[in-house]
Amino acid sequence: MAVVLEKLKDKTYPIVKWVGGKRQLMFELLQNLPKSYNRYFEPFIGGGALFFELQPQNGYISDMNEELINLYMVVRDNIYDLIDDLNKHEVSKEYFLKIRNLDRTEKYNALSNTEKASRFIYLNRTCFNGLYRVNSQGQFNVPFGNYKNPRIVDTENLINCSKLLKNTEICCADFSKILSKVKKDDFVYFDPPYVPLNETSSFTSYTRDGFDIDMQFKLRDVCDELDSMGVKFMLSNSDTKLINELYSNYEIKKVFASRAINANGKGRGKITEVLVRNY
Ligand SMILES: C[S@@+](CC[C@H](N)C(=O)[O-])C[C@H]1O[C@@H](n2cnc3c(N)ncnc32)[C@H](O)[C@@H]1O
Repeated sequence: MAVVLEKLKDKTYPIVKWVGGKRQLMFELLQNLPKSYNRYFEPFIGGGALFFELQPQNGYISDMNEELINLYMVVRDNIYDLIDDLNKHEVSKEYFLKIRNLDRTEKYNALSNTEKASRFIYLNRTCFNGLYRVNSQGQFNVPFGNYKNPRIVDTENLINCSKLLKNTEICCADFSKILSKVKKDDFVYFDPPYVPLNETSSFTSYTRDGFDIDMQFKLRDVCDELDSMGVKFMLSNSDTKLINELYSNYEIKKVFASRAINANGKGRGKITEVLVRNY
């Protein structure tokens, strides 16, 4: 009997480490996906853990972080130049500071998009905890991570990600933009900046704009609109009173994640999060 071997898809992994990355929750996310859907949307893409796991064809990804979106566009459109540029980097504190501090000078504006993307990956791999944090002037200010052998160029993964992104619409936009893009039976996964569990655990430096309570209300309104259009959505957030109240019309499932969002690692431990679904 002839055995037909189907070519397995090349696996893709997130290109950058991102605060709020969803790897600890992956099993739960996969278990709770809709059984079927048309187009996949992820409007708070960050490191894109679920997107790179699912490898949707003809997907849509967006984020408000311009540098991050530039990175995904360069991986899609200019992968070999990016790999060449990444190979130029050195791992030392002096070199790290030289690259990090480029955005404090005129030189930054003269960088090509590829050089900006290369700097972004380099800083993500070599800075402390892979954090992305900018000051009020938009200057990257995370210290050197002192890792022995950080992997800066993962050529195979970058090429596989590039193939996947060629079939993906990429936008630098607010999450609400998806309302003009989605159609009935599409699926949206929302992973917004979480409502803080308490004041001291808040981490709101993803972008210069922050994501406050009004934005959480605006996001719920977008979910209501999707629901009325027949679009499926799943949303993750913290297990707080506000989130339980905002989404009380939907299915809310408690899940456990081990998280570390404090720079000193003290915030590590199992905490409850919620997955909200309208299907
Ligand atoms: C929790 S992170 C997403 C983490 C991602 N799921 C992962 O696996 O790495 C939230 C993202 O929302 C983005 N963001 C903040 N405000 C936004 C807005 N108004 N519209 C779209 N994206 C926004 C941030 O830049 C950040 O990348």
